[in-house]
Amino acid sequence: MNRKQLNKSLLITLLLTVIPFIAIAEEDIDPRIIESRKVIKEFAEKLQKELVQAMEEGGPENAIKVCNIEAPGISTTLSEKYQWKVGRTSLKTRNRNNDPDDWELAVLINFEERKNNGEDIKQLEYSEDTKDGFRYMKAIPTKGLCLTCHGENIDKSLKRAISKLYPNDLATGFKAGDIRGAFTIIQKQN
Ligand code: HEC
Repeated sequence: MNRKQLNKSLLITLLLTVIPFIAIAEEDIDPRIIESRKVIKEFAEKLQKELVQAMEEGGPENAIKVCNIEAPGISTTLSEKYQWKVGRTSLKTRNRNNDPDDWELAVLINFEERKNNGEDIKQLEYSEDTKDGFRYMKAIPTKGLCLTCHGENIDKSLKRAISKLYPNDLATGFKAGDIRGAFTIIQKQN
């Protein structure tokens, strides 16, 4: 066997050893995590679509209503559809009804630590069986689009409109690449 052939056969051996492990790892994921991911994807995509559309149609002041009315609406619809509690939370909330409970607070702090240790925000998730049921959280990255309403330089009249609805708003001063918050799910045990 020449060197090239040897390399090739080593590579094949390596792949054959590794592939079954990858397959097992996929199968091993708790179905409740897979379900949670699916529901959150549905939530995120719906919200993003409506937000972008409203921004294009009538600018950010028009889009506030998507976040103010549609976001809690989608959250309620999904909660009823799946009989779970589905919502959003953050270390710095705009709507104080979204403030984290103790479990969520600990997870959000852990996400910040994991991000600082180099983990990709898009991959940050955490789940656990608790006395309240199976709980799952997934981090939400701050994108450029979000800065209009959550960034450091919010337009004055927009800021006034936001403050009118949310006098205790804490959700400003974010930069692109920050963790804006997290989706949070409780799958109640019946
Ligand atoms: C047009 C303004 C606007 C834009 C743009 C915007 N948001 Fe918000 N955001 C709001 C408002 C208003 C609320 C409060 C919603 C509520 O009452 O539940 C909010 C709430 C949130 C919350 C729930 C936690 C909290 O602070 O109460 C998260 C998470 C969030 N936004 C993330 C984002 C992300 C991520 C983006 C970018 C993809 C974004 N937002 C873009 C206005 C905006």
